[in-house]
Amino acid sequence: MDCKIRDASLSAQGKLNVDWAEKRMPVLSVVAEEFSGTKPFSGLRIGACLHVTKETAVLMRALKAGGAQLWLCGSNPLSTQDDVAAELVSEGVGVFAWRGQSAEEYAWCIGKVLDAKPDIVLDDGADLTVEAHARGLKPLGGTEETTTGVLRLAALEREGKLGFPLIAVNDAKTKMMFDNRYGTGQSTIEGIIRATSVLLAGKKFVVAGYGWCGKGAAMRAKGLGASVVVTEVDPVKALEAAMDGFEVMRMDDAAKTGDVFVTVTGDRDVIVGRHFEAMKDGAILANSGHFDVEVDVKGLKALAKSVRRVRPCVDEYEMMDGRRLCLLGEGRLVNLACAEGHPSEVMQMSFANQALCAEFIAKARGRLPARLSKVPEEIDARVAALALRAMGRQIDALTPEQEAYLKSWA
Ligand code: ADE
Repeated sequence: MDCKIRDASLSAQGKLNVDWAEKRMPVLSVVAEEFSGTKPFSGLRIGACLHVTKETAVLMRALKAGGAQLWLCGSNPLSTQDDVAAELVSEGVGVFAWRGQSAEEYAWCIGKVLDAKPDIVLDDGADLTVEAHARGLKPLGGTEETTTGVLRLAALEREGKLGFPLIAVNDAKTKMMFDNRYGTGQSTIEGIIRATSVLLAGKKFVVAGYGWCGKGAAMRAKGLGASVVVTEVDPVKALEAAMDGFEVMRMDDAAKTGDVFVTVTGDRDVIVGRHFEAMKDGAILANSGHFDVEVDVKGLKALAKSVRRVRPCVDEYEMMDGRRLCLLGEGRLVNLACAEGHPSEVMQMSFANQALCAEFIAKARGRLPARLSKVPEEIDARVAALALRAMGRQIDALTPEQEAYLKSWA
């Protein structure tokens, strides 16, 4: 099988890690079990651009159980777990991914996945889908995992350029409310702690952006005793942050007092030159948004006298006046560059949505419109029910009288 990875001999550790994740992803195991009976992807090729993690490997196993032939590239140059990539190759997946790729290598890997002419594309950030459009490919459909990717696809649709059906997995309730909040919340803090080993208690922790991801990061930083500041551009979200008990201010003001900064806005130029100039000696900078555009790394380099790597994942920029600013994971997704991404327990819900939406596309066999659609309600509800069952939690059901009451104007 055609593939390019770092080191095939890492597969034994990769298998241990993938098995470790699989045990914690019972929702996906239910889906895989079902797929192994129904074979919804029999004869179909699936091309995926996802962070190559132990959790993604469990998704690959589920799709393979459903009869798919699989190709996979990473959705970030720094997020691939090389041992997992090796294990996936030994399980028959055509992987083109390794940690520490250049921009050219990253693009080459996307091209290799598309060379396989996938019938279904699974994407995280829309790089694969956008390139599929550039090549004029017309798969049966595709899915998109993340907020930034959904925004890019919505822009394509607005310009009338969407060439095939796409499903916004990110926007499913069982994805966004859990993966974006609890997943990003925990894994962002974990990335910062693994990289720096600093104590968060008593620190001023600045979160830029109060969407689901920002909410998660703020909530978990508070839980560790940090004093949390939120910066926002949306007045409703800013108000929500204030009423959740966080300090709200402009980045221009936060820059002067913050000890740790995390960007989770999805937009560019959130922390730029004038902010670097105002920051305290020792300030730590991290990004947890999809692309490395939120902290202006080029601008930081231009202002610095020197840069040195002081620990894995930590670059120390010495400014002209002697202050030192620490950038984590080169300004790329701190949770994946400096840790292992979201925990398996939350990824099982995101990836059950991915798997069931891929099945939905396969079953429709080309009858879906070339639009950006929501995850079908039944899939969202099913994922929630399976996750609750896996957690051993039971819930009440409405009586017929209660249902009638809710439907009645009287
Ligand atoms: N995105 C965030 N965390 C992830 C993980 N563990 N696996 C795949 N994609 C992710």
